[in-house]
Amino acid sequence: MINKDSKIYIAGHNGMAGSAIYRKLKEKGYSNFLTRTSKELDLTIQADVNYFFDNERPEIVILAAAKVGGIMANIQSPATFLYDNLMIQSNVINSAYKYGVKKLVFLGSSCIYPRDCPQPMKEEYLLDGKVEPTNEGYAIAKIAGMKLCQMYNKQYGTDYISIMPCNLYGIGDNFDPVRSHVVAATIRKFHEAKIHNAPIVTVWGTGTARRELLFADDMADACVYLMENYSGNDFFNVGTGSDVSITELSLIVKEVVGYEGELFYDFSKPDGMPQKLMDCSRLTEKGWTYKTELREGLKKTYQWYLDNYEKFN
Ligand SMILES: NC(=O)c1ccc[n+]([C@@H]2O[C@H](COP(=O)([O-])OP(=O)(O)OC[C@H]3O[C@@H](n4cnc5c(N)ncnc54)[C@H](OP(=O)(O)O)[C@@H]3O)[C@@H](O)[C@H]2O)c1
Repeated sequence: MINKDSKIYIAGHNGMAGSAIYRKLKEKGYSNFLTRTSKELDLTIQADVNYFFDNERPEIVILAAAKVGGIMANIQSPATFLYDNLMIQSNVINSAYKYGVKKLVFLGSSCIYPRDCPQPMKEEYLLDGKVEPTNEGYAIAKIAGMKLCQMYNKQYGTDYISIMPCNLYGIGDNFDPVRSHVVAATIRKFHEAKIHNAPIVTVWGTGTARRELLFADDMADACVYLMENYSGNDFFNVGTGSDVSITELSLIVKEVVGYEGELFYDFSKPDGMPQKLMDCSRLTEKGWTYKTELREGLKKTYQWYLDNYEKFN
């Protein structure tokens, strides 16, 4: 059903996840791509999305477009995170159905799981409790997106699958001081401290929160693997199956960046969920596992930041 000439629409091709998937698909020999920036096609506008699908008729859709942000952005704009993501995914999924898309892969997030979820988090724990309040809007939207895929499959016989990646980092990450996620924010802080000879780097919170971190290119590999090899109503956790504390992450970044000062903890800042580790056995049983170890991925990410420094300063 899928061949190397299939017309593939990558929604969000400029983002960290979307660009990694774009690279992976090209590397695997796919050649027929459709892309639009959010300026060219705002996916929150239903009529525009319908028009686009009607005219372009993609065969495969990778839904990696979303309103994404760090903990402060989520706290400050919960309505935007809920509204934009509900609109983007509902419009794309419904247009995909209306215009005969053969396969769709929806990118969710590990935020879908309850705050007090047993660790590691298995797919079956979904909706067993309340999600983390600091990113409730985003999480509710992601749950709805995954459910929408499952329910379109049930009602209409479509082939839409969902993946739930853990925290991603890597090439194309956002190093903006306000919008960055934990890895990019940590790299930036240590780099700036190094070039300004600052004696301390401030770590948000207690440093004890634990996060599972996956190199974005590995997530892309899993996404394409499932696109090619899975049809059905299961969704898949995508991660490494191990986690690090924020302090451990900070110490590796410190070494990768070459910073020689000390860490200082700002306890007034939120930790977010105490731990977010996923059980990825459903995916490993399907034959996929990650390749890039954290230190190696952080080195590549730091190099990319240095090469693209002007963009963020
Ligand atoms: N980053 C992570 O740690 C992480 C972890 C788990 C899951 N994910 C999932 O991966 C997906 C992508 O995340 P990311 O980190 O790659 O985010 P990102 O770098 O911020 O990229 C998001 C992309 O979405 C597009 N977009 C946003 N609003 C849009 C709109 N209204 N219309 C059209 N396009 C729009 C943007 O397009 P333009 O660039 O053209 O504006 C951008 O390319 C999301 O679904 C996210 O939930 C990410």
